[in-house]
Amino acid sequence: MTKVLRGGIIGCGFFARHHLEGWQRIEEASIVAAADPLVDRAEAFAPRAYRSAEEMLAREELDFVDIVARVDQHLSLVQLAVESKVAILCQKPLAPDWTTALEIVRCAEASRLRFMVHENWRWQPWYRVAHDMIRKGNIGAPIAYGFRSRAGDGVGDAPYRLQSYLRNLDQFLIDEALVHHIDVAHFLFGSIGTIYAQAGRRNAAIAGEEWAILSLTHGDSVHGWIDGHRFLEPEPGGPVAGDAVIEGEAGTISIRSTGDVYHNQSLAWKNEVSAGYRGDSVRACQAHFVACVKNGIPFETSGRGYLHTFAAVRAAYRSIAESRSISLLSIVDAASGTGPTEPNPAHGITTDSRD
Ligand SMILES: NC(=O)c1ccc[n+]([C@@H]2O[C@H](COP(=O)([O-])OP(=O)(O)OC[C@H]3O[C@@H](n4cnc5c(N)ncnc54)[C@H](O)[C@@H]3O)[C@@H](O)[C@H]2O)c1
Repeated sequence: MTKVLRGGIIGCGFFARHHLEGWQRIEEASIVAAADPLVDRAEAFAPRAYRSAEEMLAREELDFVDIVARVDQHLSLVQLAVESKVAILCQKPLAPDWTTALEIVRCAEASRLRFMVHENWRWQPWYRVAHDMIRKGNIGAPIAYGFRSRAGDGVGDAPYRLQSYLRNLDQFLIDEALVHHIDVAHFLFGSIGTIYAQAGRRNAAIAGEEWAILSLTHGDSVHGWIDGHRFLEPEPGGPVAGDAVIEGEAGTISIRSTGDVYHNQSLAWKNEVSAGYRGDSVRACQAHFVACVKNGIPFETSGRGYLHTFAAVRAAYRSIAESRSISLLSIVDAASGTGPTEPNPAHGITTDSRD
């Protein structure tokens, strides 16, 4: 019989419900405990509930923790998990700033424990289909792409009802939402070279940016745009929360808001996934974590690998502040003197990147 990994969820708020639902459909893992200072939330999640991660880790024999608390808690919770020697899955955004992100990654690497960022967007099946089509050469060499990100929850006096804390974030749309599209661009087209970003706000009820348009380059060969706002639902509605187009030398891939994928004008893949969150991407991300932990294989979004996506977000905000295009290397060099996509041969765990 294969071993079932014993997991503990840390943070039992809005999004953790999607995590729990995903875990419940993964046979190789079981959530045996949960921690949240609001202990009634933890009680609804697992047979054994705790007011703090410290207490949970002290009392439980766990193989991994799933951190679904907000970004300001990530460093201390990762440090705690490292002390308890468990594998770690941690939600995005990885950290509030570049220095903290590096500290988290270095802390995990030094421990030689498995550490993966929960970045579920690239696990949406329509992006996996597009990835396969590009790899098989169905559209020839990619030239350009565009992603639209849309939701209608940013209007009115009380926007973002399900996550009201979003109203108070100084940096909102890129850090919380477009980070997913940036990561998908990294997944599909490789390392990002530069970003030029513009952003703003329409609704006086919130603090940060709630529309943004990003222009990205991937070396000399591929460029793209990511255009996001939260003032209008996509039409028709669907799990993509927007749509995408990818142009190559020999054809086009279109991803509709329904999740259907077209090769030129022909339907190439029909989205019939109805379970879980947005194409069952949370469960797919969790299943990848479990498979990699059990089989000792690299994660797609290791801490070190994900620093590239994280640097792109930092570059976007610097671009907005300085009204110019920003090279990702300038973010990385200025802060650490080391490239985020360069694996560190000193630690096996740092090879967990597709770059
Ligand atoms: N990948 C996605 O698609 C996606 C979507 C939504 C949110 N998220 C991310 O999920 C994370 C959580 O977001 P949310 O909307 O669920 O937030 P939330 O505020 O609803 O939930 C966070 C929970 O963590 C608890 N908490 C706070 N400090 C804690 C600590 N030290 N130990 C244990 N629990 C603690 C809070 O009491 C709360 O119940 C954020 O990082 C957010 O960006 C990801």
